Amino acid sequence: MKVVQRFFRILAAGALLGLLCALPVRAETVLVTDSNQGIGLEFAKQFAARGWTVIATHRRSETPDTLAELQKQYPDTVKPERMDVTKKDEIAALAERLKGQPIDIILNNAALIRFADIRDREGNKGQLFGTLDYDHMDQFMHTNVAGPLMIAEEFRDNLIASQRKMIVTISSAAGMVTIAPRSADHYWYRITKAALNSAMRLLAVELADEGVTVVMFHPGGVQVESFGDNKMPGMVPPEEAIGKMMQTIDGLTIKDSGRFLQNDGKDQPW
Ligand SMILES: NC(=O)c1ccc[n+]([C@@H]2O[C@H](COP(=O)([O-])OP(=O)(O)OC[C@H]3O[C@@H](n4cnc5c(N)ncnc54)[C@H](OP(=O)(O)O)[C@@H]3O)[C@@H](O)[C@H]2O)c1
Repeated sequence: MKVVQRFFRILAAGALLGLLCALPVRAETVLVTDSNQGIGLEFAKQFAARGWTVIATHRRSETPDTLAELQKQYPDTVKPERMDVTKKDEIAALAERLKGQPIDIILNNAALIRFADIRDREGNKGQLFGTLDYDHMDQFMHTNVAGPLMIAEEFRDNLIASQRKMIVTISSAAGMVTIAPRSADHYWYRITKAALNSAMRLLAVELADEGVTVVMFHPGGVQVESFGDNKMPGMVPPEEAIGKMMQTIDGLTIKDSGRFLQNDGKDQPW
């Protein structure tokens, strides 16, 4: 009798397993802001290689070559979309087009960093004391702080409909306020990254009841194209820094919400 019972139990377990395998596994979706170069492009590549649907946004009038190339490699899953993060109408228009589509991770990567080459003091004097350009300040605030907030407001329902429900924001150690900066430069960049952290901490509280995890990263020093030939000490290639952040993201839960992280998941000083 016991043998017969065991036989039927195994049969039932097999049937259940077969049923589960037959159910469509929903691929996860990430929206990466400004994924045409640098850190954003590397995130788009690594998520695409994992089989995720990647909504790869950019602010150019035409699809950038880098994203067209990635889309050629992953025609069914990489979806380049135009979205200037300072333009509420463009954010709302994309949200409208993606209405009802779950988005597991919103990855705020786009940022205004400087207007000229990193070593060009004259070109960047608008971010130096004595010659601070307050119109520039508005542009930095709009891009680095208002942008991610507008995106959270517009895509809130997509996030809540997803499994992961995560907002990952690429901030910077430049936004630290507990440790004095090594030099007094990049005023607007530093100030707006600190403000961005404050905005994300508010969102972590705001969206906690909806189960949304909100984290910030200092990605480390990443040698991206926009640095040109300027090689900074300690910089690592994008593949390495983004690979580490991908692993850290995999291990995050709602308990991590509100944290400011280094790429390996350790706490970054505020
Ligand atoms: N690289 C590092 O060492 C490092 C260190 C700390 C933090 N970060 C952060 O990492 C993120 C990515 O930076 P990155 O190093 O990869 O530099 P990047 O290559 O210069 O990327 C910044 C991107 O932001 C985009 N952007 C600027 N304004 C925008 C707007 N209004 N709408 C949409 N996109 C806009 C730029 O687009 P266009 O291509 O169209 O100009 C650019 O592609 C930033 O948040 C940055 O603060 C980087």
